[in-house]
Amino acid sequence: MSRDKNRVIIFDTTLRDGEQSPGCSMTLNEKLRVAEALEELGVDVIEAGFAIASNGDFQAVSQISALLKETTVCSLARASTKDIDRAWEALRGAKRPRIHTFISTSPLHMEHKLNMSPEKVLEKIAESVSYARNLCDDVEWSCEDGTRTEEDYLYKSIETAIKAGATTINVPDTVGYTTPVEYTEMMRKIIENVPNSDKAIFSTHCHNDLGLAVANSIAAVEGGARQIECTVNGIGERAGNAALEEIAMAFRTRHDMLPYTTGIVTENITKTSHLVSSVTGLNVQHNKAIVGANAFAHESGIHQDGMLKNAETYEIMTPESVGLGKSTLVMGKHSGRHAFSEKLKELGYELGNNEFLSAFQQFKDLADAKKVVYDEDIIAIVDDGMRDNDGMQITSWKFVCDHGVPNSATFEIVADGSVKEVHSEGNGPVDAAFLALSSLIEGEPDLELYQVHAVTKGTDAQAEVTVRLSDDGRTVNGHAAHTDTLVASAKAYLNAINKLLVKREKGKPEEMAV
Ligand code: KIV
Ligand code: ZN
Repeated sequence: MSRDKNRVIIFDTTLRDGEQSPGCSMTLNEKLRVAEALEELGVDVIEAGFAIASNGDFQAVSQISALLKETTVCSLARASTKDIDRAWEALRGAKRPRIHTFISTSPLHMEHKLNMSPEKVLEKIAESVSYARNLCDDVEWSCEDGTRTEEDYLYKSIETAIKAGATTINVPDTVGYTTPVEYTEMMRKIIENVPNSDKAIFSTHCHNDLGLAVANSIAAVEGGARQIECTVNGIGERAGNAALEEIAMAFRTRHDMLPYTTGIVTENITKTSHLVSSVTGLNVQHNKAIVGANAFAHESGIHQDGMLKNAETYEIMTPESVGLGKSTLVMGKHSGRHAFSEKLKELGYELGNNEFLSAFQQFKDLADAKKVVYDEDIIAIVDDGMRDNDGMQITSWKFVCDHGVPNSATFEIVADGSVKEVHSEGNGPVDAAFLALSSLIEGEPDLELYQVHAVTKGTDAQAEVTVRLSDDGRTVNGHAAHTDTLVASAKAYLNAINKLLVKREKGKPEEMAV
Protein backbone atom coordinates (compact mmCIF):
# COMPACT_ATOMS: atom_id res chain seq x y z
CA MET A 1 0.00 0.00 0.00
CA SER A 2 1.48 3.38 -0.93
CA ARG A 3 1.74 6.10 1.74
CA ASP A 4 -0.30 9.26 1.41
CA LYS A 5 2.43 11.65 0.32
CA ASN A 6 1.19 14.48 2.54
CA ARG A 7 0.63 12.45 5.70
CA VAL A 8 3.05 13.63 8.38
CA ILE A 9 4.08 11.21 11.12
CA ILE A 10 3.79 12.73 14.58
CA PHE A 11 6.60 11.51 16.83
CA ASP A 12 5.96 12.62 20.37
CA THR A 13 8.95 12.98 22.69
CA THR A 14 7.16 14.45 25.74
CA LEU A 15 8.28 11.45 27.79
CA ARG A 16 11.93 11.69 26.72
CA ASP A 17 13.07 15.17 25.59
CA GLY A 18 10.16 16.73 27.50
CA GLU A 19 10.97 14.86 30.66
CA GLN A 20 14.64 15.89 30.36
CA SER A 21 13.72 19.55 30.83
CA PRO A 22 14.27 21.24 34.20
CA GLY A 23 11.66 20.22 36.74
CA CYS A 24 9.72 17.90 34.44
CA SER A 25 10.37 14.46 35.88
CA MET A 26 7.38 12.10 36.05
CA THR A 27 6.73 8.96 38.04
CA LEU A 28 6.18 5.65 36.27
CA ASN A 29 2.41 5.83 36.73
CA GLU A 30 2.33 9.36 35.43
CA LYS A 31 4.26 8.27 32.35
CA LEU A 32 1.82 5.43 31.75
CA ARG A 33 -1.11 7.85 31.93
CA VAL A 34 0.56 10.27 29.56
CA ALA A 35 1.38 7.43 27.14
CA GLU A 36 -2.25 6.30 27.09
CA ALA A 37 -3.41 9.87 26.55
CA LEU A 38 -0.93 10.27 23.68
CA GLU A 39 -2.24 7.11 22.05
CA GLU A 40 -5.79 8.50 22.34
CA LEU A 41 -4.55 11.77 20.93
CA GLY A 42 -3.48 9.86 17.84
CA VAL A 43 0.29 10.30 17.81
CA ASP A 44 2.10 7.77 15.59
CA VAL A 45 5.29 7.26 17.60
CA ILE A 46 5.95 7.74 21.31
CA GLU A 47 9.53 8.13 22.47
CA ALA A 48 8.99 6.59 25.90
CA GLY A 49 12.43 7.22 27.36
CA PHE A 50 16.15 6.60 27.23
CA ALA A 51 16.27 3.02 28.48
CA ILE A 52 19.88 3.01 29.64
CA ALA A 53 19.58 6.31 31.55
CA SER A 54 18.04 4.75 34.67
CA ASN A 55 15.91 1.90 35.93
CA GLY A 56 12.99 4.32 35.92
CA ASP A 57 13.42 5.04 32.21
CA PHE A 58 13.87 1.34 31.46
CA GLN A 59 10.66 0.48 33.32
CA ALA A 60 8.79 3.28 31.58
CA VAL A 61 9.84 2.08 28.11
CA SER A 62 9.07 -1.54 28.87
CA GLN A 63 5.69 -0.94 30.56
CA ILE A 64 4.58 1.52 27.89
CA SER A 65 5.61 -1.07 25.29
CA ALA A 66 3.35 -3.62 26.95
CA LEU A 67 0.49 -1.13 27.35
CA LEU A 68 0.03 0.47 23.96
CA LYS A 69 -2.09 -1.14 21.27
CA GLU A 70 -1.34 0.76 18.07
CA THR A 71 1.32 3.34 18.58
CA THR A 72 4.98 2.71 17.79
CA VAL A 73 7.07 2.81 20.96
CA CYS A 74 10.62 4.05 20.75
CA SER A 75 13.64 4.22 23.04
CA LEU A 76 16.64 6.48 22.61
CA ALA A 77 20.14 4.96 22.58
CA ARG A 78 23.61 6.40 22.03
CA ALA A 79 25.84 4.86 19.37
CA SER A 80 26.97 1.98 21.57
CA THR A 81 26.00 -1.68 21.70
CA LYS A 82 25.29 -1.40 25.45
CA ASP A 83 22.78 1.39 24.91
CA ILE A 84 21.16 -0.34 21.96
CA ASP A 85 20.88 -3.69 23.79
CA ARG A 86 19.22 -1.98 26.75
CA ALA A 87 16.79 -0.13 24.46
CA TRP A 88 15.88 -3.37 22.71
CA GLU A 89 15.43 -5.22 25.99
CA ALA A 90 12.93 -2.55 27.09
CA LEU A 91 11.12 -2.51 23.74
CA ARG A 92 10.72 -6.25 23.26
CA GLY A 93 7.08 -6.33 24.37
CA ALA A 94 5.97 -3.55 22.01
CA LYS A 95 3.65 -4.32 19.11
CA ARG A 96 5.61 -1.81 17.06
CA PRO A 97 9.09 -1.20 18.49
CA ARG A 98 11.56 1.38 17.22
CA ILE A 99 15.20 1.90 18.23
CA HIS A 100 16.34 5.51 17.96
CA THR A 101 20.09 5.84 17.94
CA PHE A 102 22.08 9.04 17.58
CA ILE A 103 25.52 10.60 17.43
CA SER A 104 26.72 14.17 16.91
CA THR A 105 27.96 15.18 13.47
CA SER A 106 28.80 18.90 13.78
CA PRO A 107 32.51 19.85 13.94
CA LEU A 108 31.93 21.48 17.32
CA HIS A 109 30.33 18.42 18.88
CA MET A 110 32.69 15.88 17.26
CA GLU A 111 35.76 17.74 18.50
CA HIS A 112 34.67 19.01 21.91
CA LYS A 113 31.98 16.61 23.05
CA LEU A 114 32.86 13.29 21.45
CA ASN A 115 36.56 13.87 20.95
CA MET A 116 36.34 11.76 17.77
CA SER A 117 37.49 12.31 14.20
CA PRO A 118 34.84 12.60 11.47
CA GLU A 119 36.04 9.24 10.08
CA LYS A 120 35.58 7.57 13.46
CA VAL A 121 32.07 9.02 13.73
CA LEU A 122 31.21 7.55 10.31
CA GLU A 123 32.42 4.15 11.53
CA LYS A 124 30.29 4.48 14.66
CA ILE A 125 27.22 5.34 12.57
CA ALA A 126 27.64 2.26 10.39
CA GLU A 127 28.29 -0.01 13.38
CA SER A 128 25.51 1.27 15.61
CA VAL A 129 22.79 1.46 12.98
CA SER A 130 23.51 -2.00 11.58
CA TYR A 131 23.67 -3.42 15.11
CA ALA A 132 20.25 -1.88 15.89
CA ARG A 133 18.81 -3.02 12.56
CA ASN A 134 19.80 -6.61 13.29
CA LEU A 135 17.56 -6.42 16.35
CA CYS A 136 14.66 -4.34 15.08
CA ASP A 137 13.16 -3.56 11.65
CA ASP A 138 12.33 0.01 12.56
CA VAL A 139 15.48 2.04 13.24
CA GLU A 140 15.72 5.81 13.46
CA TRP A 141 19.06 7.54 13.28
CA SER A 142 19.66 11.15 14.37
CA CYS A 143 22.65 13.34 13.57
CA GLU A 144 22.73 15.43 16.74
CA ASP A 145 23.42 19.11 16.03
CA GLY A 146 22.51 18.33 12.41
CA THR A 147 21.76 21.93 11.50
CA ARG A 148 25.33 22.99 12.35
CA THR A 149 26.92 20.10 10.44
CA GLU A 150 28.98 20.69 7.28
CA GLU A 151 26.89 19.99 4.21
CA ASP A 152 28.99 17.29 2.54
CA TYR A 153 29.68 15.51 5.80
CA LEU A 154 25.95 15.58 6.61
CA TYR A 155 25.16 13.89 3.27
CA LYS A 156 27.88 11.30 3.81
CA SER A 157 26.74 10.46 7.34
CA ILE A 158 23.08 10.16 6.29
CA GLU A 159 24.02 7.96 3.35
CA THR A 160 26.04 5.76 5.74
CA ALA A 161 23.11 5.45 8.17
CA ILE A 162 20.64 4.53 5.43
CA LYS A 163 23.08 2.01 3.96
CA ALA A 164 23.40 0.43 7.42
CA GLY A 165 19.61 0.04 7.63
CA ALA A 166 18.10 3.22 9.13
CA THR A 167 14.48 3.63 8.08
CA THR A 168 14.00 7.14 9.49
CA ILE A 169 16.59 9.90 9.36
CA ASN A 170 16.17 12.71 11.84
CA VAL A 171 18.05 15.98 11.30
CA PRO A 172 17.70 17.77 14.63
CA ASP A 173 18.06 21.46 15.23
CA THR A 174 19.52 20.57 18.61
CA VAL A 175 20.33 24.11 19.70
CA GLY A 176 17.37 25.89 18.08
CA TYR A 177 19.64 27.74 15.64
CA THR A 178 18.15 27.34 12.19
CA THR A 179 15.56 29.51 10.43
CA PRO A 180 12.57 28.38 8.35
CA VAL A 181 13.96 29.20 4.89
CA GLU A 182 17.37 27.72 5.71
CA TYR A 183 15.81 24.51 7.08
CA THR A 184 13.43 23.99 4.13
CA GLU A 185 16.39 24.30 1.81
CA MET A 186 18.54 22.00 3.95
CA MET A 187 15.90 19.22 3.87
CA ARG A 188 15.33 19.66 0.17
CA LYS A 189 19.07 19.45 -0.59
CA ILE A 190 19.60 16.42 1.68
CA ILE A 191 16.86 14.53 -0.15
CA GLU A 192 18.29 15.62 -3.51
CA ASN A 193 21.97 14.90 -2.74
CA VAL A 194 21.94 11.76 -0.62
CA PRO A 195 21.96 8.95 -3.22
CA ASN A 196 19.82 6.51 -1.17
CA SER A 197 17.45 9.12 0.34
CA ASP A 198 14.41 7.39 -1.21
CA LYS A 199 14.91 4.50 1.24
CA ALA A 200 14.13 6.53 4.39
CA ILE A 201 11.61 8.94 5.83
CA PHE A 202 13.09 12.28 6.86
CA SER A 203 12.32 13.81 10.21
CA THR A 204 12.63 17.14 12.02
CA HIS A 205 13.34 17.73 15.71
CA CYS A 206 13.40 21.42 16.56
CA HIS A 207 14.29 23.19 19.76
CA ASN A 208 12.77 26.55 20.53
CA ASP A 209 15.74 28.69 21.60
CA LEU A 210 14.78 31.44 19.14
CA GLY A 211 11.05 30.79 19.34
CA LEU A 212 11.13 29.21 15.87
CA ALA A 213 10.62 25.52 16.65
CA VAL A 214 7.10 25.19 15.21
CA ALA A 215 7.85 27.38 12.18
CA ASN A 216 11.05 25.43 11.52
CA SER A 217 9.27 22.05 11.84
CA ILE A 218 6.66 23.11 9.29
CA ALA A 219 9.40 24.50 7.06
CA ALA A 220 11.18 21.14 7.13
CA VAL A 221 7.96 19.43 6.01
CA GLU A 222 7.82 21.86 3.10
CA GLY A 223 11.33 20.73 2.23
CA GLY A 224 10.29 17.06 2.18
CA ALA A 225 10.39 15.82 5.80
CA ARG A 226 7.44 13.60 6.70
CA GLN A 227 7.98 13.12 10.41
CA ILE A 228 7.85 15.85 13.07
CA GLU A 229 9.27 15.30 16.54
CA CYS A 230 7.44 17.43 19.08
CA THR A 231 6.07 17.56 22.62
CA VAL A 232 2.79 18.44 24.29
CA ASN A 233 2.86 22.06 25.52
CA GLY A 234 6.26 22.38 23.82
CA ILE A 235 8.15 21.16 26.91
CA GLY A 236 11.75 20.05 26.43
CA GLU A 237 15.39 20.92 27.00
CA ARG A 238 15.99 24.66 27.67
CA ALA A 239 13.33 26.66 25.76
CA GLY A 240 11.57 23.43 24.81
CA ASN A 241 10.69 21.55 21.64
CA ALA A 242 8.16 22.26 18.89
CA ALA A 243 4.65 22.18 20.40
CA LEU A 244 2.55 19.30 19.06
CA GLU A 245 -0.75 21.15 19.46
CA GLU A 246 0.47 24.16 17.46
CA ILE A 247 1.63 21.99 14.59
CA ALA A 248 -1.58 19.94 14.46
CA MET A 249 -3.77 23.07 14.55
CA ALA A 250 -1.64 24.89 11.97
CA PHE A 251 -2.14 22.00 9.53
CA ARG A 252 -5.85 21.83 10.32
CA THR A 253 -6.56 25.57 10.26
CA ARG A 254 -4.36 26.51 7.30
CA HIS A 255 -4.88 23.43 5.17
CA ASP A 256 -5.17 25.78 2.17
CA MET A 257 -1.48 26.77 2.58
CA LEU A 258 -0.21 23.65 4.37
CA PRO A 259 -1.85 20.66 2.68
CA TYR A 260 -0.55 18.13 5.23
CA THR A 261 -2.46 15.77 7.47
CA THR A 262 -1.68 14.06 10.77
CA GLY A 263 -3.51 11.42 12.81
CA ILE A 264 -4.05 13.86 15.70
CA VAL A 265 -7.55 13.92 17.17
CA THR A 266 -7.43 17.65 17.85
CA GLU A 267 -10.48 17.49 20.14
CA ASN A 268 -8.23 15.67 22.66
CA ILE A 269 -5.61 18.42 22.75
CA THR A 270 -6.87 20.36 25.77
CA LYS A 271 -7.21 17.39 28.09
CA THR A 272 -3.79 16.02 27.08
CA SER A 273 -2.27 19.43 27.69
CA HIS A 274 -3.86 19.58 31.18
CA LEU A 275 -2.58 16.13 31.98
CA VAL A 276 0.98 16.95 30.94
CA SER A 277 1.07 20.23 32.84
CA SER A 278 -0.42 18.54 35.87
CA VAL A 279 2.04 15.65 36.05
CA THR A 280 5.09 17.75 35.22
CA GLY A 281 4.03 20.66 37.43
CA LEU A 282 4.96 22.98 34.56
CA ASN A 283 2.14 25.47 34.06
CA VAL A 284 1.26 26.60 30.57
CA GLN A 285 1.72 30.35 30.10
CA HIS A 286 -1.66 32.09 29.79
CA ASN A 287 -1.02 33.50 26.32
CA LYS A 288 0.37 30.24 24.89
CA ALA A 289 -1.14 29.41 21.47
CA ILE A 290 -3.90 26.75 21.43
CA VAL A 291 -3.72 25.64 25.09
CA GLY A 292 -3.08 28.83 27.10
CA ALA A 293 -5.91 30.01 29.38
CA ASN A 294 -6.33 33.12 27.20
CA ALA A 295 -6.08 31.40 23.81
CA PHE A 296 -9.83 31.67 23.25
CA ALA A 297 -10.61 34.55 25.64
CA HIS A 298 -11.86 37.87 24.28
CA GLU A 299 -11.49 40.79 26.63
CA SER A 300 -11.76 44.03 24.71
CA GLY A 301 -15.19 45.50 24.02
CA ILE A 302 -14.64 45.71 20.26
CA HIS A 303 -13.61 42.05 20.09
CA GLN A 304 -16.48 40.91 22.30
CA ASP A 305 -18.95 42.84 20.17
CA GLY A 306 -17.56 41.25 17.00
CA MET A 307 -17.63 37.77 18.57
CA LEU A 308 -21.27 38.14 19.53
CA LYS A 309 -22.18 39.10 15.96
CA ASN A 310 -20.07 36.35 14.33
CA ALA A 311 -17.41 34.28 16.12
CA GLU A 312 -15.30 34.15 12.95
CA THR A 313 -14.54 37.87 13.31
CA TYR A 314 -11.84 37.09 15.87
CA GLU A 315 -11.63 33.29 16.03
CA ILE A 316 -9.70 31.38 13.36
CA MET A 317 -10.52 28.02 14.96
CA THR A 318 -13.29 27.01 17.33
CA PRO A 319 -12.64 26.19 21.00
CA GLU A 320 -14.50 22.90 20.39
CA SER A 321 -11.92 21.87 17.74
CA VAL A 322 -9.27 21.66 20.50
CA GLY A 323 -11.64 20.10 23.02
CA LEU A 324 -12.63 23.23 24.89
CA GLY A 325 -16.37 22.65 25.00
CA LYS A 326 -18.86 25.22 26.18
CA SER A 327 -19.79 24.43 29.77
CA THR A 328 -23.40 23.35 30.13
CA LEU A 329 -23.64 21.76 33.61
CA VAL A 330 -23.40 23.97 36.68
CA MET A 331 -22.09 21.99 39.64
CA GLY A 332 -22.80 22.49 43.34
CA LYS A 333 -23.33 20.59 46.57
CA HIS A 334 -26.60 19.07 45.34
CA SER A 335 -25.02 17.56 42.23
CA GLY A 336 -24.94 13.78 42.40
CA ARG A 337 -22.77 11.07 40.86
CA HIS A 338 -24.55 11.15 37.54
CA ALA A 339 -24.11 14.91 37.10
CA PHE A 340 -20.47 14.61 38.20
CA SER A 341 -19.83 11.86 35.70
CA GLU A 342 -21.49 13.92 32.93
CA LYS A 343 -19.36 16.91 33.89
CA LEU A 344 -16.19 14.80 33.70
CA LYS A 345 -17.22 13.67 30.22
CA GLU A 346 -17.89 17.28 29.22
CA LEU A 347 -14.37 18.17 30.38
CA GLY A 348 -12.93 15.24 28.43
CA TYR A 349 -12.01 12.94 31.34
CA GLU A 350 -12.68 9.24 31.60
CA LEU A 351 -11.78 7.91 35.04
CA GLY A 352 -11.57 4.34 36.26
CA ASN A 353 -13.97 3.28 39.02
CA ASN A 354 -11.66 3.95 41.98
CA GLU A 355 -10.43 7.22 40.56
CA PHE A 356 -14.01 8.29 39.93
CA LEU A 357 -15.09 7.51 43.50
CA SER A 358 -12.14 9.35 44.97
CA ALA A 359 -12.67 12.38 42.67
CA PHE A 360 -16.39 12.39 43.52
CA GLN A 361 -15.62 12.39 47.25
CA GLN A 362 -13.22 15.29 46.80
CA PHE A 363 -15.82 17.13 44.75
CA LYS A 364 -18.41 16.65 47.53
CA ASP A 365 -15.93 17.92 50.15
CA LEU A 366 -15.16 20.89 47.96
CA ALA A 367 -18.82 21.63 47.30
CA ASP A 368 -19.35 21.73 51.06
CA ALA A 369 -16.46 24.13 51.47
CA LYS A 370 -17.29 26.60 48.70
CA LYS A 371 -20.45 28.00 47.14
CA VAL A 372 -19.87 27.34 43.46
CA VAL A 373 -17.72 24.59 42.01
CA TYR A 374 -16.26 25.77 38.69
CA ASP A 375 -14.89 23.62 35.87
CA GLU A 376 -11.38 24.72 36.88
CA ASP A 377 -12.04 23.29 40.37
CA ILE A 378 -12.98 19.94 38.91
CA ILE A 379 -9.94 19.93 36.64
CA ALA A 380 -7.79 20.67 39.72
CA ILE A 381 -9.41 17.72 41.57
CA VAL A 382 -8.77 15.31 38.70
CA ASP A 383 -5.23 16.61 38.29
CA ASP A 384 -4.64 16.14 42.01
CA GLY A 385 -5.81 12.53 41.72
CA MET A 386 -3.11 11.98 39.11
CA ARG A 387 -0.54 12.64 41.82
CA ASP A 388 -1.91 9.90 44.05
CA ASN A 389 0.96 7.69 43.02
CA ASP A 390 3.49 9.67 44.98
CA GLY A 391 5.52 7.33 47.22
CA MET A 392 4.95 9.49 50.31
CA GLN A 393 1.63 11.14 51.05
CA ILE A 394 0.32 13.49 53.72
CA THR A 395 -2.63 11.92 55.54
CA SER A 396 -3.15 14.49 58.29
CA TRP A 397 -1.75 17.86 59.32
CA LYS A 398 -1.68 20.46 62.05
CA PHE A 399 -0.48 24.04 61.66
CA VAL A 400 0.11 26.42 64.55
CA CYS A 401 0.04 30.05 63.51
CA ASP A 402 -0.82 32.12 66.57
CA HIS A 403 0.39 35.48 67.75
CA GLY A 404 3.14 35.23 70.36
CA VAL A 405 3.80 31.46 70.12
CA PRO A 406 6.30 29.65 67.89
CA ASN A 407 4.74 28.73 64.52
CA SER A 408 4.91 25.06 63.69
CA ALA A 409 3.69 22.32 61.37
CA THR A 410 3.14 18.61 62.05
CA PHE A 411 2.29 15.97 59.45
CA GLU A 412 1.39 12.33 59.42
CA ILE A 413 3.04 10.76 56.38
CA VAL A 414 2.27 7.40 54.83
CA ALA A 415 5.04 5.75 52.83
CA ASP A 416 5.13 2.11 51.71
CA GLY A 417 2.35 1.20 54.13
CA SER A 418 4.10 2.64 57.18
CA VAL A 419 3.12 5.83 58.98
CA LYS A 420 5.45 8.41 60.44
CA GLU A 421 5.18 11.88 61.89
CA VAL A 422 7.35 14.88 61.06
CA HIS A 423 7.31 18.20 62.89
CA SER A 424 9.14 21.49 62.81
CA GLU A 425 8.92 25.02 64.04
CA GLY A 426 9.63 27.77 61.58
CA ASN A 427 9.46 31.37 60.61
CA GLY A 428 5.73 31.21 59.81
CA PRO A 429 3.62 28.10 59.01
CA VAL A 430 4.89 27.65 55.43
CA ASP A 431 8.53 27.73 56.54
CA ALA A 432 7.69 25.28 59.35
CA ALA A 433 5.88 22.96 56.91
CA PHE A 434 8.74 22.93 54.40
CA LEU A 435 11.33 22.35 57.14
CA ALA A 436 9.30 19.46 58.57
CA LEU A 437 8.85 17.82 55.15
CA SER A 438 12.46 18.33 54.06
CA SER A 439 13.47 16.02 56.95
CA LEU A 440 12.00 13.19 54.86
CA ILE A 441 14.99 13.14 52.52
CA GLU A 442 18.73 13.34 52.88
CA GLY A 443 20.42 16.64 52.01
CA GLU A 444 18.95 20.08 51.78
CA PRO A 445 17.24 20.85 48.48
CA ASP A 446 17.08 24.54 47.54
CA LEU A 447 13.65 26.09 47.26
CA GLU A 448 13.83 27.91 43.92
CA LEU A 449 10.18 28.83 43.49
CA TYR A 450 7.09 28.98 45.67
CA GLN A 451 4.08 30.15 43.73
CA VAL A 452 0.45 30.34 44.80
CA HIS A 453 -2.46 31.08 42.52
CA ALA A 454 -6.21 30.98 42.99
CA VAL A 455 -7.86 28.43 40.67
CA THR A 456 -11.05 30.53 40.43
CA LYS A 457 -12.46 33.79 41.73
CA GLY A 458 -13.74 34.16 45.32
CA THR A 459 -11.99 34.06 48.69
CA ASP A 460 -13.10 30.42 49.03
CA ALA A 461 -11.20 29.51 45.82
CA GLN A 462 -8.80 26.59 45.78
CA ALA A 463 -5.14 27.57 45.97
CA GLU A 464 -2.94 25.95 43.36
CA VAL A 465 0.66 25.84 44.52
CA THR A 466 3.86 25.15 42.60
CA VAL A 467 7.10 24.45 44.42
CA ARG A 468 10.40 24.11 42.59
CA LEU A 469 13.30 22.37 44.33
CA SER A 470 16.82 21.92 43.09
CA ASP A 471 19.41 19.56 44.42
CA ASP A 472 22.80 18.63 43.01
CA GLY A 473 22.02 19.65 39.41
CA ARG A 474 18.49 18.26 39.41
CA THR A 475 15.35 20.41 39.38
CA VAL A 476 11.78 19.29 40.05
CA ASN A 477 8.39 20.99 40.21
CA GLY A 478 5.78 19.94 42.76
CA HIS A 479 2.17 20.86 42.34
CA ALA A 480 -1.01 20.64 44.48
CA ALA A 481 -4.39 22.30 44.97
CA HIS A 482 -6.54 22.68 48.07
CA THR A 483 -8.99 25.20 49.54
CA ASP A 484 -6.51 25.64 52.40
CA THR A 485 -3.41 27.39 51.07
CA LEU A 486 -1.19 25.88 53.78
CA VAL A 487 -2.29 22.34 52.94
CA ALA A 488 -1.81 22.98 49.21
CA SER A 489 1.69 24.34 49.95
CA ALA A 490 2.67 21.31 52.05
CA LYS A 491 1.30 18.85 49.47
CA ALA A 492 3.09 20.64 46.63
CA TYR A 493 6.36 20.53 48.61
CA LEU A 494 5.96 16.80 49.27
CA ASN A 495 5.08 16.20 45.60
CA ALA A 496 8.41 17.86 44.70
CA ILE A 497 10.28 15.72 47.25
CA ASN A 498 8.73 12.57 45.79
CA LYS A 499 9.88 13.63 42.34
CA LEU A 500 13.36 14.43 43.60
CA LEU A 501 13.64 10.90 44.98
CA VAL A 502 12.67 9.50 41.56
CA LYS A 503 15.22 11.77 39.88
CA ARG A 504 17.99 10.88 42.33
CA GLU A 505 17.62 7.32 41.22
CA LYS A 506 18.67 8.42 37.72
CA GLY A 507 22.32 9.07 36.94
CA LYS A 508 23.53 12.62 37.37
CA PRO A 509 23.22 14.73 34.21
CA GLU A 510 27.00 14.60 33.57
CA GLU A 511 27.07 10.80 33.96
CA MET A 512 24.73 10.51 30.97
CA ALA A 513 26.73 12.83 28.70
CA VAL A 514 27.44 11.26 25.33
O1 KIV B 1 17.91 17.68 20.34
C1 KIV B 1 18.44 16.63 19.92
O2 KIV B 1 19.34 16.65 19.08
C2 KIV B 1 17.96 15.37 20.47
C3 KIV B 1 18.45 14.14 19.78
C4 KIV B 1 18.84 13.09 20.74
C5 KIV B 1 17.40 13.66 18.82
O3 KIV B 1 17.15 15.35 21.36
ZN1 ZN C 1 16.13 17.35 21.53
